[in-house]
Amino acid sequence: MSTATNLTAKEDFLNNYPEYEATKTLDKWRAKDYGRLDDNHHVYLDYTGGNLYGTSQVKTHHDFLLNNILGNPHSSNPSSIKSTEAVENAREAVFKFFNAPDYICVFTPNATGALKIIGESYPFTEKSHFLLPFDNHNSVNGIREYAKNKGASYTYSPIQIEDLKFQPDILQNHLESHANADKKLFAYPAQSNVSGVKHDLGWIEIAQKLGWDVLLDASAFVPTSKLDLSTYQPDFVSLSFYKMFGYPTGLGALLIKKDKLKLLKKPWFAGGTVTLASVMAENFFLEESHSRYEDGTINYLDIPAIKIGLDHLDDIGMENINQRVTILSQYILDTFPTLKHDNGTPLIKIFGPQTTDNRGGTFILNIFDDQGNPLPFLEVERLANHENFSIRTGCFCNPGIDEINNNLDQETLRTYFETREAGDYFDMQKSLDQMRGAIRISLGLMSNFEDVYKFIEFLKTFRKG
Ligand SMILES: Cc1ncc(COP(=O)(O)O)c(C=O)c1O
Repeated sequence: MSTATNLTAKEDFLNNYPEYEATKTLDKWRAKDYGRLDDNHHVYLDYTGGNLYGTSQVKTHHDFLLNNILGNPHSSNPSSIKSTEAVENAREAVFKFFNAPDYICVFTPNATGALKIIGESYPFTEKSHFLLPFDNHNSVNGIREYAKNKGASYTYSPIQIEDLKFQPDILQNHLESHANADKKLFAYPAQSNVSGVKHDLGWIEIAQKLGWDVLLDASAFVPTSKLDLSTYQPDFVSLSFYKMFGYPTGLGALLIKKDKLKLLKKPWFAGGTVTLASVMAENFFLEESHSRYEDGTINYLDIPAIKIGLDHLDDIGMENINQRVTILSQYILDTFPTLKHDNGTPLIKIFGPQTTDNRGGTFILNIFDDQGNPLPFLEVERLANHENFSIRTGCFCNPGIDEINNNLDQETLRTYFETREAGDYFDMQKSLDQMRGAIRISLGLMSNFEDVYKFIEFLKTFRKG
């Protein structure tokens, strides 16, 4: 594509989306802190997979490491005190960022680590119930196995095939059921990691008023939207920091509403989690704070980079990021459906909501040939890789959405699992002669017009005629 055409396309875009100009400080950030993207002609469209880090974040953190003596925390020697201070500063930064004075912040290896704590420690019994919608990451789906193993029942609440949003009447009904259950947990994602749907945070209060504890998986929401935990107060929140600001990996958080710390029953103890343990008495006392769930030595060298990352997001401006992602999402929703083969067959189908209302910048789609057959996503990914696009294909650890999009039924799926010891999506696709998976692109803090435009040009190469 020539530069002249590119410039015309940009002018057209700015005429159609004049609000984009208001987000132009992001372009300065991109040039200053993420220059490697354009230096390498890389079109990054996998922000929901992992965010990108800015050069300044890494430099600030490395300076901190290179200029301080940092030892294992929770002791009284100077290196230990320095680490403890830095870790607690990071914890304070988390409270400030999420406006969360009513919460305890447990640092975990990632969102999955946070969800595992809930799975292990939520006091499920035979009288308990676990409610979750079809749209969940596998790290939330997996909690059902903890519930099942303790004899609790669980229900999957369906989502609407046309826009992949909750079915509000059915969900309301599910929440009103199980009135006599002892300990009820409702878990849902604030934003789908696949369809980009922002599920209504109003369900938190509705569920709590009906006696449910609410686990909000905020992992895919917080990278581009502000979560204010003084307005919405789920009992538990899970997230991964690399999804918010790219660096470092290996850290997430479980935020626990202070009055729910005692509800969770940790099934074991470990170094760092007890005030006292005895071999002879075979007894122990757990810590009364976040330490109760931070097993062993915490990642004290990387945790300080959380404050650096959150400050970085504050400097860039979450509102700015959100606004740009919304404008570019609108551009995608306006443009992709206009792409057609010469015979009029649509080239692209975006699953999920077709407007920017209550949706973020994550899109699943398929590309079709001129006879309306979906192209194999692995082939699309191979071609995209060749052009230096980072996109993602497959099922994105969210089987519920994929099963709905591909019209799979419960009976067929059950039979597949019951008739073998192991399998994967490709085997399932072959055995059932059913399509699985799709293509996902996701926008994030450094996305710009050019990224989306180049991807549209790439999509056009699949047009026939
Ligand atoms: C909505 C959602 N929940 C949970 C996770 C799990 O995050 P992690 O792999 O960082 O533990 C992801 C990761 O993609 C996600 O998107």
